[in-house]
Amino acid sequence: SRTDYVRIVEVGPRDGLQNEKQSIPVSTKIELVNRLAQTGLRTIEAGSFVSPKWVPQMANSSEILEHVLNNTPQSPHPITYQWLLPNVRGLDNFLSLLHSKTPSGQDAYPTPPPSPGTGEGPALNSSSQTPSAPIHELSIFTAATEAFTQKNTNCSIAESLKRFEPIMARGKEMNLKVRAYISVALGCPYEGPNVDPHKVAELAVSLLEMGADEISVADTTGMGTAPKTAELLKTLSAAGIEKGDLALHFHDTYGQALVNSVVALEHGIRTFDAAVGGLGGCPFSPGATGNVATEDLVHTFHSLGLKTGVDIEKLAAIGEWISQELGKADESRAGKATLAQ
Ligand code: HMG
Ligand code: MG
Repeated sequence: SRTDYVRIVEVGPRDGLQNEKQSIPVSTKIELVNRLAQTGLRTIEAGSFVSPKWVPQMANSSEILEHVLNNTPQSPHPITYQWLLPNVRGLDNFLSLLHSKTPSGQDAYPTPPPSPGTGEGPALNSSSQTPSAPIHELSIFTAATEAFTQKNTNCSIAESLKRFEPIMARGKEMNLKVRAYISVALGCPYEGPNVDPHKVAELAVSLLEMGADEISVADTTGMGTAPKTAELLKTLSAAGIEKGDLALHFHDTYGQALVNSVVALEHGIRTFDAAVGGLGGCPFSPGATGNVATEDLVHTFHSLGLKTGVDIEKLAAIGEWISQELGKADESRAGKATLAQ
């Protein structure tokens, strides 16, 4: 039925890798995107167009975009690629590539299929492996506290919203969906664990009014707990925000990501961000560890009788492979257990 499909936004190639100290070869990043495209995942955040002075690891995202445009990763269904950008400069860099690589006469911006969250889940077992035209979306980001916004983007929250106006306008013109992140929604590394849920709601309302298609509410620090998550979701709902306009983005720093995800599920949320192998961390959130592992989230959702369309065995193998490539431990419990079976 319409409510038993959960959409996973795989953020491993961007949120997962951006904090790695060693420069990761672009070939590894491309291989990660290619492999993820084979798992049944439908939405992949593949890179960011931010200042390389601020996040050097993402400097070669343009090569990943070029790869997606020139050699669309094989998948049985169209994949939506999301690209994070902080300002018009990032949007210009993104669009110039998108335009230069789109053959004339071809629709650069195919209309996205209906969101699975609002209708029947997608066909899960399509066997054809013909490349499908990728769909591109923009991701913008602000935060629920002034201190974090300054550290992350060198501006105030109000200034960050101002920066989004031209991005949103151009995005709409080009028929590109725009997702907006609100970071540190359940705890801030600079202002502490008690972030005002009303501030998050106020920001979410502003972003939706501005034209955002989806708000990803992010627990950047992993300070979220079950009661705090419930309180935040109630506050968002009381502010008139529809569940279908929200995604939840948990980090597992305190081991609460799955608990919080189930709380969010119970509140009707059906879109969740996660990173394969539990990759990740934010360069501007000291001590923050990885995102919730996609394998763990998929395992939990399947155990509840929900559908994700994702093949957990394939995902687990990718989690192990990329962890080895990065010389770090695979942080997914369900991934490791699946491989050990
Ligand atoms: P700034 O230093 O105030 O701005 O940075 P600037 O205009 O002076 O730019 C500095 C330099 O970067 C200049 O180069 C610009 O040209 C260049 P120079 O003239 O010195 O040679 N520049 C750019 N280059 C490429 N692409 C661009 C771009 N913009 C400027 N788009 C700025 C302000 C917003 C640019 C900077 O703070 C920035 O890039 N921040 C991004 C930080 C970031 O990526 N953080 C991680 C993502 S957010 C996150 O992880 C949280 C999330 O996952 C959810 C969660 O878990 O919370 C989303
Ligand atoms: Mg994150």
